[in-house]
Amino acid sequence: MSKTISGFSKLSKSKKIEWLVNTHFSKKETARQILEQYWNSDTKLQQLHDEFIENTISNYYLPFGVAPNFLINDKLYTIPMAIEESSVVAAASKSAKFWLQRGGFKTMVLSTTKIGQVHFMYFGNYETLKSYFTYIKPKLIEDVKPITKNMENRGGGIMDIELRDKTKDIKGYFQLHVSFETLDAMGANFINSCLEQFAKTFKDNALLYETFSEEEKQIQIVMSILSNYVPDCLVRAEVSCKIEDLNEDDAISPDEFAAKFIQAVTIAEVEPYRAVTHNKGIMNGIDAVVLATGNDFRAVEAGVHAYASRNGTYSSLTHAKIEDGMFYFWMEIPLALGTVGGLTGLHPLVKLSLELLDNPSAKELMQIVAVAGLSQNFAALRSLTTTGIQKGHMKMHLMNILNQFQATDQEKAIIIDYFKTHTVSHNEVVNVLQNLRVKN
Ligand code: MEV
Repeated sequence: MSKTISGFSKLSKSKKIEWLVNTHFSKKETARQILEQYWNSDTKLQQLHDEFIENTISNYYLPFGVAPNFLINDKLYTIPMAIEESSVVAAASKSAKFWLQRGGFKTMVLSTTKIGQVHFMYFGNYETLKSYFTYIKPKLIEDVKPITKNMENRGGGIMDIELRDKTKDIKGYFQLHVSFETLDAMGANFINSCLEQFAKTFKDNALLYETFSEEEKQIQIVMSILSNYVPDCLVRAEVSCKIEDLNEDDAISPDEFAAKFIQAVTIAEVEPYRAVTHNKGIMNGIDAVVLATGNDFRAVEAGVHAYASRNGTYSSLTHAKIEDGMFYFWMEIPLALGTVGGLTGLHPLVKLSLELLDNPSAKELMQIVAVAGLSQNFAALRSLTTTGIQKGHMKMHLMNILNQFQATDQEKAIIIDYFKTHTVSHNEVVNVLQNLRVKN
């Protein structure tokens, strides 16, 4: 049977599923049942999800958890997290509690500028292009007024437009490099709409600019799009305490713990293989909150990792130091987030997440998300430099293994109890479960 189809998007949901199960699955009824099992019985809610994307045939669930006890700038938060990895919410909660007793997290938004670019080709005289840019700049701003009016009334809008000469990289390549302030909106649609209007005004008016030669009038627009690299949309999160207050663990002294922790961070600062995993752990916390609050985690990921390589080598996002008997641990990261627009007003769980966070501004959300990342890295490094990661990780993973083997509630209770005093490994869990089943 052919696996190609035309007009798929125009089919009804049930026809799409029919084609899918008939074309791709041997156990057709099982496939259909799995897809339908995740439909929501609330038809309005289901329709909302159906209409988020094209060709929706089911819903894909992720666990939605919360991590309480986050003290951020003296305000307490319970942070919502959407994530599948067993240990992330537990790690966040543990870190939150640890720092709650040590003054909490301190955060600050350092900047909020976002960037968009019109990429174009021009093969004439640069001085003439510069004079055209100076002439057309007020009209560029004027022509986007219908788009920017509301944003400007609230204090945002276009901050600047620069002409950038990129001909050293590509012959004839120039940019309009535009900075934006989008306030509580992530701003992707706003920025892209402005850029597309800039491109049109810029190209059309070039045809009428008399100083240009006939050839110079033919500006070629390549594309107009926001940048997800936002090194000037930065937030800082920090924790600190006296070294002696650092540890609750008798197995390692606070001094030794602080020293090992700083070594671990320093390794991630200089060693890309480690830095990627170190930062991945940070993103465990960040993505979970970004997702729960309806923001674009791909944009955040791309921007954060580009920032981690800004000095030419991929490096740690977090830093740590000891100074005058104090331990400091901090991070500065770029986060372009929104608390209005996009999914924020549409998805009921996103709305609930934002309400849980006291309906934060985008700036407040940047700080909360940064804290989720810093706390996750603290928990990871704390485990890695003391007990090792697997102890806590496998403990959290225990339930997944039990579910994989369809353990009953009674079996689960016995085995969880057993592993309170034994090290969890996949093999060991299977052994214990099998023994239990043989006995019964
Ligand atoms: C696992 O998801 C994240 C860690 O690997 C992060 C780290 O190594 O720092 C534990």
